[in-house]
Amino acid sequence: MLVEALVDPVLAWYGQCARDLPWRREGVSPYAVLVSEVMLQQTPVSRVLPAYAAWLERWPTVAALAAAPSGEAVRQWGRLGYPRRALRLHAAARACVSRHDGQIPSEYDDLLALPGVGAYTAAAVASFAFGQSHPVLDTNVRRVLARVIGGEARAPLTPSVAETARARSLLPGDGRAPAWSVAVMELGALVCTARAPRCEACPLAAGCSWSLAGRPEPSQPARTQGYEGTDRQVRGRIMAVLRDQRGAVAWDLLEAASDDAVQRERALQSLLDDGLVVLAPGGFALPL
Ligand code: ADE
Repeated sequence: MLVEALVDPVLAWYGQCARDLPWRREGVSPYAVLVSEVMLQQTPVSRVLPAYAAWLERWPTVAALAAAPSGEAVRQWGRLGYPRRALRLHAAARACVSRHDGQIPSEYDDLLALPGVGAYTAAAVASFAFGQSHPVLDTNVRRVLARVIGGEARAPLTPSVAETARARSLLPGDGRAPAWSVAVMELGALVCTARAPRCEACPLAAGCSWSLAGRPEPSQPARTQGYEGTDRQVRGRIMAVLRDQRGAVAWDLLEAASDDAVQRERALQSLLDDGLVVLAPGGFALPL
């Protein structure tokens, strides 16, 4: 499929159907774009919206976030999940203050060098905050391209070099790359969904390899992410107790996190290893 045959229909569809999301509005700062991308990576839009607003209300600039203790970033992260992201975002803010004069850098390589910023986040910030041309491969985009171009129901678990090269070759070269990236992301989120794709509403259906082949079953395994009974759930409960407490929390207050003492200890140890929890006089606390 030719680039023009993809880009124009997807951009036209986006113009009609896109959600009005705060991080996509005119004049949003690069820092706010970074915050949104870190939050959105593993959390649905509906849960990110209030957390994003509250975060920017509390820390409107990189410098404000960098000046806060890292434990406050973890506390503010609240129930978004995967709280290492809060620590990394805080560390990235400190790196921007020490290396980039309190600004989010615009160069892809400088973005990638920030703590916790991987290829996806660097490409997203360079594209959406700075208007550059980079392949932005989130799970939605990867699924759309796997279907339309590859004829596969699902993308592989991790992006290959070839997949990134293919996505790069599809970027329109006339300044429309960021618009294309966000539009194809939105198409994956709203139409070309993992479980219930609405091909009848898709601007690419007529030329989509997967749709034309009769939507074959996936040859790739699904990413399974159970929660109930996992260590991640117990970690979440321990973090909730610590967030609600100003000072240190004694070990016995963490007992309610799991009936299984071995699991409780394992979860706490992993939080200590991650630096999300520290030893403090009288027990355990969020980091300083
Ligand atoms: N708009 C820009 N980036 C986004 C993302 N990661 N998820 C949803 N909408 C977005």
